[in-house]
Amino acid sequence: MSLDQSGCYVAIDCGCGAGADTEYLSQAGYAVHAFDIHPDTFSMCTERFHSHPNVYISHEAFETFSYPRAGIIIAHASLYFAEPKLFSATWEKLERSIQPGGIFSGDFMGIRDSWAHRTSGPTNPLTHAEVAALLTGFDVVTFDEHDKAGITSFGKPKHWHIYSVMAKKRPTTAS
Ligand SMILES: C[S@@+](CC[C@H](N)C(=O)[O-])C[C@H]1O[C@@H](n2cnc3c(N)ncnc32)[C@H](O)[C@@H]1O
Repeated sequence: MSLDQSGCYVAIDCGCGAGADTEYLSQAGYAVHAFDIHPDTFSMCTERFHSHPNVYISHEAFETFSYPRAGIIIAHASLYFAEPKLFSATWEKLERSIQPGGIFSGDFMGIRDSWAHRTSGPTNPLTHAEVAALLTGFDVVTFDEHDKAGITSFGKPKHWHIYSVMAKKRPTTAS
């Protein structure tokens, strides 16, 4: 049985990157709205999914995307870079978009991450309590904290502090 019990076969892939999750959700029968702020990523995904009639690629940011009603919202390794001053409004839009019984799966940056205070672009570090507070309208399926030294995809040393969450929106929560 699918974890998503919303009955809404629409998914959103936020900060879709090369589109791996978009591909998976499309193959699972969802109409997928995928967006990314990076122009190259947008071009790559537009090309990759040009023959997928149920995949809609947008060049948007978390803060500007118009979130349709969805059964699944995915934000893997991307909400780290949301604009922190606008994050509560952004999260409200995401949460409202997920239909009762639908699923959020995504990652949040923790406060001990090496990038938590970087100056090269916005990051949105959150405490454990702040992440938990985002999920009050949800039943948490998995909540994993990763807090360890590692390397970036470019092989540079980095401390990773990440909360990886999967949660189901409660049927009683207003949509
Ligand atoms: C580490 S990649 C993850 C890509 C994909 N979600 C995955 O799991 O493979 C982060 C992505 O978030 C996108 N991104 C960063 N800031 C963003 C923003 N404000 N709005 C939308 N996408 C953003 C980046 O362009 C990048 O493609």
